Amino acid sequence: MYRAHPNDGIAWVTGASSGIGRAVALELVQRGFAVAATARRAAELDAMAAESHNIFSFPGDTTDRAAMAATVSGIEAAHGPIALAFLNAGVYFIAERDGFSASLVWRTFEINVGGTVNCLDPVLAAMKRRGKGQIALTSSLAGYGGIAGSSAYGSAKAALIYMAEALRLSYEQAGLTIQVVNPGFVHTAMTAQNDFEMPFIMGADRAARIICDGFEKKGFEVLFPHRLAYAFKAMCLLPYALFFPLMRRAAQRARR
Ligand SMILES: NC(=O)c1ccc[n+]([C@@H]2O[C@H](COP(=O)([O-])OP(=O)(O)OC[C@H]3O[C@@H](n4cnc5c(N)ncnc54)[C@H](OP(=O)(O)O)[C@@H]3O)[C@@H](O)[C@H]2O)c1
Repeated sequence: MYRAHPNDGIAWVTGASSGIGRAVALELVQRGFAVAATARRAAELDAMAAESHNIFSFPGDTTDRAAMAATVSGIEAAHGPIALAFLNAGVYFIAERDGFSASLVWRTFEINVGGTVNCLDPVLAAMKRRGKGQIALTSSLAGYGGIAGSSAYGSAKAALIYMAEALRLSYEQAGLTIQVVNPGFVHTAMTAQNDFEMPFIMGADRAARIICDGFEKKGFEVLFPHRLAYAFKAMCLLPYALFFPLMRRAAQRARR
């Protein structure tokens, strides 16, 4: 299965203005890639580009489908083919803990699913034409199974896991490698909102090294930290009569 190499083209990272995306962009540069960085905050991207001659700022809102098509064309016109796309831009609105809200659910889906789809569309087409390319979608361990206060975020992430699985099967014959990245807790602006204990939380730099190692390996899923990921995976296989009490107990322990 194809694995992107810096000689094959540039890497495109969305959500690159902070957190995991920013750390992955910097790690990819360490590993020899030129990186096109996308997010809404142009100033953050420009500051990164000013620090590294291998980072190029392509600001944009992933929910704007035409803008993402133009971004992919713009990157390829200026820097050649996109060999690796890390579609990572995403949000969690803390207000969803206060109760169900249709507008919050739709906004979460618009960014986390719709934004990813808007990036996938042009980059899949370009890679398919070339007969090679690697794409990784950032989902979350939260996509494995229901978590209280996460009905919008978690279900949007579950959709991305499904999408990545389906695309992996649909595009492997075309020479494309699709992966999913499922992080546990990582210190970023997103988790800084949380007021509960986050087991095995790690720094964004460490997460970026794990993610970039995952790009180089054979597997479909890049998941971490392993203890949390496999424990939650196993819980999600249990009958609901066991799953729900275990989830309630885990939530109580995290709130202590
Ligand atoms: N931190 C964790 O524990 C954790 C765990 C599992 C999964 N994740 C996932 O990891 C990804 C990165 O999150 P993070 O933790 O690194 O949080 P973060 O620091 O808040 O980063 C989110 C990134 O997404 C970008 N973004 C948001 N909406 C966008 C839009 N409409 N268009 C373009 N860019 C947009 C933000 O940039 P702008 O605001 O400049 O647009 C920012 O660069 C997300 O998909 C998140 O769900 C995080």
